[in-house]
Amino acid sequence: MTTEILRGGPEGIARAGEILRAGGLVAIPTETVYGLAANALDPVAVKKIFEAKGRPGDNPLIVHITEVEQWAALVSALPKRALELAERFWPGPLTITLPKSDIVPYETSGGLDTVAVRCPSHPAARAVIEAAGVPLAAPSANISGRPSPNTFAHTYEHLRGRVDAVLDGGDCSVGVESTVVSLCGDVPRLLRPGGVTEGQLRVVLGELEIDPAVLGELKPGEPARSPGMKYKHYAPRARIEVIDGSPEEFLEYVNGLGETEGAYALCFEETVKEVNIPAVTYGPRYDRAAQARELFRALHRLDELRAERAYAQMPGRAGVGLAVYNRLMRAAGFRIRELPGPVIVGLVGQSGAGKSTVAAELVKRGFQLIDCDGLTRRDDVYDSACIEALCKAFGPEVAPDGRLDRRELAGRAFRDPEGVRLLGEITFPPIIRAVRGEAAGCRGPVLLDAPTLFEAGLDRICRRILAVTAPEKVRLGRVMERDGLPMERALERFAAQQPEAFYTGRADLVIDNGGGPIGPRIERVCAQLKGAGG
Ligand code: TXA
Ligand code: MG
Repeated sequence: MTTEILRGGPEGIARAGEILRAGGLVAIPTETVYGLAANALDPVAVKKIFEAKGRPGDNPLIVHITEVEQWAALVSALPKRALELAERFWPGPLTITLPKSDIVPYETSGGLDTVAVRCPSHPAARAVIEAAGVPLAAPSANISGRPSPNTFAHTYEHLRGRVDAVLDGGDCSVGVESTVVSLCGDVPRLLRPGGVTEGQLRVVLGELEIDPAVLGELKPGEPARSPGMKYKHYAPRARIEVIDGSPEEFLEYVNGLGETEGAYALCFEETVKEVNIPAVTYGPRYDRAAQARELFRALHRLDELRAERAYAQMPGRAGVGLAVYNRLMRAAGFRIRELPGPVIVGLVGQSGAGKSTVAAELVKRGFQLIDCDGLTRRDDVYDSACIEALCKAFGPEVAPDGRLDRRELAGRAFRDPEGVRLLGEITFPPIIRAVRGEAAGCRGPVLLDAPTLFEAGLDRICRRILAVTAPEKVRLGRVMERDGLPMERALERFAAQQPEAFYTGRADLVIDNGGGPIGPRIERVCAQLKGAGG
């Protein structure tokens, strides 16, 4: 079969519609990944999708529509919470499963009595659905088992010769497949994480169960509520191993591998500069949206490079990170290597968020606390080279007879931003060394309370980051009481600090400490911090 290449203009769209109406297959761009589309209501057309992809027949397809009104005909009923989700997230990267109506063939639903429906936002996807005049079944446009394509070039590479046409719509903006939520049971259930996050869903739904297949591998005999989750997925040809360690531990591991013919690092942009084997990146450590956009491109790149093995840096799981984690774990066949050495958890948050309460609770549960503020007041942290550099930068008065005069140093360094920068540049490396030394002497997990964790670069030695949050009103009350400050002074102090999103956007786990019993929340966080790959 020759595969036509269609461009995104009106002509290409019209041609795509024509092929689809005639029962053919067209690969189309969406905001998540490219999809392989056919008329969802035509069992013969849908069967061709399974053949072209080599997809098992019991793995159901998602049906794509452009208007909520088209949904009612596809399902047996539309509950209120389904409409609320659609109202909030459509058009966009969310798929909702509900009991199906009779017009949806079992070929489309993979033999199930339910149907997954989504309303994409990509203009070309919408235009093609309209041109076809029917709902379109469209799984990701990869050959079954391989990484999903989110660029035209990768889509064409997968499906050339197997489909009637591929429509070029450029690169997909989300980069991983849609979030799939089931409304078929009593409690809504997240079946697959994606661009719409767990937190966003909870705001609308209240309660939400996380299917075990989201975080782990299904055990033999465990029911696959999303049939797609039981198959090998997203795998490049290389054997991927996910390395669970801090950025620094990751570097030490891959740089110490020795014989590395055919081996690649799959790492964050910050890390790549220091990796001494060939590497492919998948976004910055704290930009999870970029990681989602880049992960599948990186997996395709590993294939282009004929990589045999890849050592992947562990992604964080908060927000869109959960989708990145889920796809990478599947690509790795759930192979995780937990590095030895102390698991350091960075503890961060705004003033008054209640970090100390959280720390105290975690210490009760076996964590050892390193209080960075206390540590930086110890004289043995600063070696003679450091003291010399401080004298050179701020004058010999900051260390008369070689001993640091902290008050004098603070007075001089905090005079202007340049002084603060210089102070950090000189003192952060010895502080990191000291923390590393302390942690090495700890048995069990370590909690690192460091107000300037990111500024000091201490996040490089953290395997996990835990952010504590509380509403501003609660924090204000706590800071006024604790430090005896009038409200204006407390507010001034807040204004000089990082916003909450600075911390939650970098955290692997977030714990709310705004009030109410903290025990159950601590238990949950604790289990996730300590568990393998946690
Ligand atoms: O972003 C996306 O969702 C992309 C684009 C093209 O729209 N499509 C996509 O389709 O990812 P696919 O077929 O690769 O993944 C569909 C997933 C599978 O894991 C499948 O098992 C699950 O959704 N699914 C489909 N219908 C279902 C149903 N009725 N019940 C439970 N899971 C279902
Ligand atoms: Mg797929």
